[in-house]
Amino acid sequence: LVLILDFGSQYTHLITRRIRSLSVFSLCISGTSSLETIASHNPRVVILSGGPHSVHAPDSPAFPADFLEWAQSNGVYVLGVCYGLQLMVQKLGGVVRVGEKQEYGRMDILVEGSSGIFGNKKLGERQVVWMSHGDEAAVLPDGFEVVARSQQGAVAAVENRERRLFGLQYHPEVTHSPEGMETLRYFLFDVCGVSAGWKMENVLDEEIRIINDKVGPEEHVICALSGGVDSTVAATLVYKAIGDRLHCVFVDNGLLRYKERERVMETFEKDLHLPVTCVDATDQFLSKLKGVVDPEMKRKIIGREFICIFDAFANELEQKLGKKPAYLVQGTLYPDVIESCPPPGTGRTHSHTIKSHHNVGGLPKDMKLKLIEPLKLLFKDEVRQLGKILNVPEPFLKRHPFPGPGLAVRVLGDVTDGNALDILRLVDEIFIQSIKDAGLYDSIWQAFAVFLPVRSVGVQGDQRTHSHVVALRAVTSQDGMTADWYYFEHKFLDDVARKICNNVRGVNRVVQDITSKPPSTIEWE
Ligand code: XMP
Repeated sequence: LVLILDFGSQYTHLITRRIRSLSVFSLCISGTSSLETIASHNPRVVILSGGPHSVHAPDSPAFPADFLEWAQSNGVYVLGVCYGLQLMVQKLGGVVRVGEKQEYGRMDILVEGSSGIFGNKKLGERQVVWMSHGDEAAVLPDGFEVVARSQQGAVAAVENRERRLFGLQYHPEVTHSPEGMETLRYFLFDVCGVSAGWKMENVLDEEIRIINDKVGPEEHVICALSGGVDSTVAATLVYKAIGDRLHCVFVDNGLLRYKERERVMETFEKDLHLPVTCVDATDQFLSKLKGVVDPEMKRKIIGREFICIFDAFANELEQKLGKKPAYLVQGTLYPDVIESCPPPGTGRTHSHTIKSHHNVGGLPKDMKLKLIEPLKLLFKDEVRQLGKILNVPEPFLKRHPFPGPGLAVRVLGDVTDGNALDILRLVDEIFIQSIKDAGLYDSIWQAFAVFLPVRSVGVQGDQRTHSHVVALRAVTSQDGMTADWYYFEHKFLDDVARKICNNVRGVNRVVQDITSKPPSTIEWE
């Protein structure tokens, strides 16, 4: 196992993913974890991440005082990246100070000395790397040697081979360091002697074993399916482990996309053979949403209604089975459970969110269900790989994210006003289908239409119209936290706008949202 200690760098999770992509299992924990926690993972290698702090700042995060001694006496290899390198240097008695020249962005480094980490001679003596630091290691602790310098002469890589301590001032995990992956590969396999062998197939077998150990032979499990990738893959995995003792529910809340219910139910039943009860709760949801215009209020109402339905589903099952279901499956992913060292002032904190059905609200406190979270160590792309092994159809795995409150946050204002939902469904379908036809779907993180609560004047067939305006939104993103708007060719937009106005009665104007996140959010409400 390769353990990453997170000191708040925006790239920390990327290191974890890069290492996993080399078929080596890696986990990321807070950089200030106790030595006991670190040791409990029994790592062969510990990577100290970068971070936005200076080691001289009073509250700068650090590993436990006896960590480096522990690593040495247990034969553990340590690699410090950027802040991680500086921390190691400072803790061992070296000097870190503000660099004479700050180094940000692309930089050449020159390998020197008899390097261990750059022992792979294939990579050559000059490399392009990505730097991002103000402080630098000015005086190295005893036993360390410089094995690379930046073109400006600053320390770029250090090592103390005898103590198995290594440090890179640059970020090998980003694609702007073209040789970075190869350096990590060489470091892990050739320097540290790590062996590759972590595969999604093993994860699947291991998770099935864990579920079977956990869930007794007479116990039942419930799962709320949202139609999204995570809950579907989680349920399919649990079904493989315990078969019909899994009971799923899919709620049609009247806020789904065009033919969504039919489409996802077909996948659940025909492709995945999942035992799913479909509850049509359209009237229940829409009657509660009538007249509500506040976005947060809409979310709360939807969350509450969902809980009622889930509760009723569990009670019905209890009556049918003669006992309460004992477990609840959730599609929680690794990014939701990672403990991290957030940079100060960002408001980011460690959060272990127990997601209810696609985040729309909490589950009833008195339900007392124990959780099964088979995806909680995986990243989204790994969940997709797992889904593929579980035969979840590829187009399903590649679906764009869809928010829990559904079209309620895309019809601005009162969702029950006129036929806004029906109009939006048709517009959205035309937009998404056009994106698919143009072969753009997989290059876009999320695309959708928004129904605006305004009317504009138009002229259609020589007639003056006073009709609805719809907005098109398409964004690229890594994780939904930040996003940029997607640049369509004019011809594409022209075709889509024409198609929408010609085919959807009641719409006479189409606009495009060209704001990134921040300052906007992806959804409009
Ligand atoms: P925003 O609009 O906050 O969205 O930039 C970021 C991502 O989260 C989705 N989203 C939600 N998902 N419940 C969810 O399950 C919600 O209430 C919700 N609000 C936004 C959004 O679609 C995007 O992918």
